[in-house]
Amino acid sequence: MRGRFLVLEGVDGSGKSTQAERLVRRLEAEGRRPLHLREPGGTPVGERLRAMLLDAERRRWDPRTEALLFFASRAEMLVRRVRPALREGRDVVCERFTPSTLAYQGQDPETEGFVLALDDLVVGRDGQPDLVIILDLDPEVSLERTRSRAWYGDTETSFERRDAAYYRRVRQGYLAYARARAERTFLLPVGGLDADQVEARIAERLRALDAAPPASRREGSP
Ligand code: TYD
Repeated sequence: MRGRFLVLEGVDGSGKSTQAERLVRRLEAEGRRPLHLREPGGTPVGERLRAMLLDAERRRWDPRTEALLFFASRAEMLVRRVRPALREGRDVVCERFTPSTLAYQGQDPETEGFVLALDDLVVGRDGQPDLVIILDLDPEVSLERTRSRAWYGDTETSFERRDAAYYRRVRQGYLAYARARAERTFLLPVGGLDADQVEARIAERLRALDAAPPASRREGSP
């Protein structure tokens, strides 16, 4: 049986990394061998692209250029890590995927179309995640959290220097993604929840996924 491809999404400061780690530990406790990845990155090529993309010194590039680099990292990660693991029956937990590129680089209709075309080419219908978990958070709160993180010594990345209006557009991108792909998306408002509650809600949704997997998994595509 093919593994499950699980993606965690959310704006910076939404608790995505914490939840990805908790999910991985939970799957391990169930006796599975999950593979934990993050984008951009996950392969030597991806880590080099990550360094370029998160370089705070770089000038603002065209969103298409950024999208191409994110998809270059994604292509490498899919071929070298995700697909082999899924074929071996391992679950893959990936922090960020195409929904991030749509939310961050695909903010106007033209670049949205560009990102969707790349997703078609690189990910394809058969490569789509079984479930995208979106940790939805008010942009004001997420900005607060990333600022306090920077205060404690994290280097501020070029992506984190953006304002509330930018994050509102990112959130709209995620909401649009969730509306367009309701069957494979779990939109979870995390504002009033603590980490334990978020973890429990995700576990509950995964049980529902096993009970009623999306059509493509039922057909058993490799
Ligand atoms: P990272 O330091 O990993 O932040 P986080 O912990 O919030 O994931 O930086 C990743 C940044 O890259 C984040 O600000 C979102 C951005 N990004 C895009 O703009 N497009 C993409 O396709 C991806 C995968 C990430």
